[in-house]
Amino acid sequence: MDFKGQVALVTGGARGIGKTIAENLAKKGVGLAIADVSVESAGETARELASLGVKTLALRLDVSKSDQVVKAFEDIVREFGRLDIVVNNAGITKDGLVLRMKEEDWDAVININLKGVFLCSKEAVKVMVKQKYGRIINIASVVAFMGNPGQSVTWRVQRWSHRRRWLVIFAGRMSLRRAIRGASIQN
Ligand SMILES: NC(=O)c1ccc[n+]([C@@H]2O[C@H](COP(=O)([O-])OP(=O)(O)OC[C@H]3O[C@@H](n4cnc5c(N)ncnc54)[C@H](O)[C@@H]3O)[C@@H](O)[C@H]2O)c1
Repeated sequence: MDFKGQVALVTGGARGIGKTIAENLAKKGVGLAIADVSVESAGETARELASLGVKTLALRLDVSKSDQVVKAFEDIVREFGRLDIVVNNAGITKDGLVLRMKEEDWDAVININLKGVFLCSKEAVKVMVKQKYGRIINIASVVAFMGNPGQSVTWRVQRWSHRRRWLVIFAGRMSLRRAIRGASIQN
């Protein structure tokens, strides 16, 4: 597939899986916005990717904060003039047995791993519908479909599975509604 000239946002793209996805897109000629709570690491990654010959932009973004999400999408469209691909990758892990799990850990996971996808997808769809083109990719987990041996007896896997399965359902529903308007969503 020819992606040359397209523009992608990778949330949590400063390191790990997000960085690898961003690298692979950059190698295909895709311009990249790397958005991360750690703007210093995002800057380093953006500089590395720019050496592959694509335009890059580093953004400070907490995906769970709607004002930051709206501003990040505005900055990207102003800088690149378009946005074709959004990879909802930012996520945290706070696994633990229910008896030991703190309420703030539960809230943090739900706000970043679930609400963050909703907030970014909402802004992405606004841009993509206008463009009549776009792709949203949600990074979920195979654990959404099956428990891991050794973890399945614990409540934490139930929690992990539920939040990730929600992403799959969310993506499926959005896909149906958006497919006819040129945007599609994949897990
Ligand atoms: N690593 C695995 O084995 C695995 C398995 C299944 C799913 N996943 C999912 O894949 C995604 C990436 O995982 P990873 O292992 O590369 O993680 P990682 O911790 O290495 O990287 C996550 C990145 O997201 C950033 N981030 C954290 N909170 C953020 C926020 N609120 N807003 C914006 N950025 C934020 C971090 O700074 C970091 O750069 C996550 O959603 C994770 O749940 C990972």
